[in-house]
Amino acid sequence: MIGSKMSSALNAQINAETWSAFLYLSMSMAAAEMCWRGAAHWFRKQYEEEMQHAFKIIDYMEDQSAHVELRPIREFPTAWESLVRMFEEALEHEKRVTNMIHNLCELATAEHDHATAVFLHWFVSEQVEEEETITAIIERMRLVGDDYTALFFQDVELSERI
Ligand code: FEO
Repeated sequence: MIGSKMSSALNAQINAETWSAFLYLSMSMAAAEMCWRGAAHWFRKQYEEEMQHAFKIIDYMEDQSAHVELRPIREFPTAWESLVRMFEEALEHEKRVTNMIHNLCELATAEHDHATAVFLHWFVSEQVEEEETITAIIERMRLVGDDYTALFFQDVELSERI
């Protein structure tokens, strides 16, 4: 049984995950316009993953007979000065999401909502993985700097994301 406070917080997280999805879709389109096809592919995959995160919470709430409420998605950016700036912003965003997940965990503990606390563990691990993946991409891009040939090969690697 999910209490009203927890239910409201999970609904806010559904909104945040959906906003994340649209942020990455927007990055995908911006990358495509810059002719970084690998990055465009990578961000589109990230869009799909964020929608899966939203659905994961929706399914959990439905299983618990909690009220799911979709809220309006706030505006998201549409342009970035460079590819590396895009990934830097993605990392900053993921760090904010990590904080949100940790706040949800603290609320679940305070509410003695053991089922939701266990459910959220998956998201805690997922955030570690997301931050690590994006950090590694940024580090490699910073290594090559303005070397467009090296960046081109990194972009090819990004196109291999399954
Ligand atoms: Fe759903 Fe990238 O956090």
